Amino acid sequence: MLSEAVREKIRSFFGRYETKRAALLPALQIAQNTLGHVSLQAMVEVAELLDLQPSEVYDTASFYTHFWTKPKGRKTIVCCRSTSCVLLNADAVLQAFKDTLGIDEHQTTPDGEYSLMTEECLAGCDHAPCVLINERLHQRVKPEDVPGLLADANNDKLDIPRSTLFDPPQPGTTPPASPAGEAGNAAGG
Ligand code: FES
Repeated sequence: MLSEAVREKIRSFFGRYETKRAALLPALQIAQNTLGHVSLQAMVEVAELLDLQPSEVYDTASFYTHFWTKPKGRKTIVCCRSTSCVLLNADAVLQAFKDTLGIDEHQTTPDGEYSLMTEECLAGCDHAPCVLINERLHQRVKPEDVPGLLADANNDKLDIPRSTLFDPPQPGTTPPASPAGEAGNAAGG
């Protein structure tokens, strides 16, 4: 169940758009960041918040590979499957992750540590092949790099400040208020 703080964080996005419906992707992102995945119960609650049918939320959540409808690992490995990376051996890199972890795409290791998936271009084409671990981008990855990459406990740690825009609220904090004039949009959207 989504906490009131999480609901408020989702509502804080309403003023950015002309309709509540348009806040669906941020709402799903916040739900996933909070729960680790977007459960069916979360979809029902997001639908209520955004005045949508649960089936509409499910359609969107299940369309994007980014959203997981079942629990995923603490770290998500995303291998790029687009042209620049594939031309530079991305298929072998993906296979190395599968072999080392013993899982296939969209599966999670039994210890709950890693989930594996592929996505289109990760926006690092000039350093292909690219792999994302949570929010950290690894560039020019070779199949033989994979065991060492997995052994690095900091393989998902960013070395730059990150945005907290979509993070769920932390206990004891209040989501930022909507900018002036946005309350009307929220009420009427
Ligand atoms: S094609 Fe792989 S990062 Fe763009």
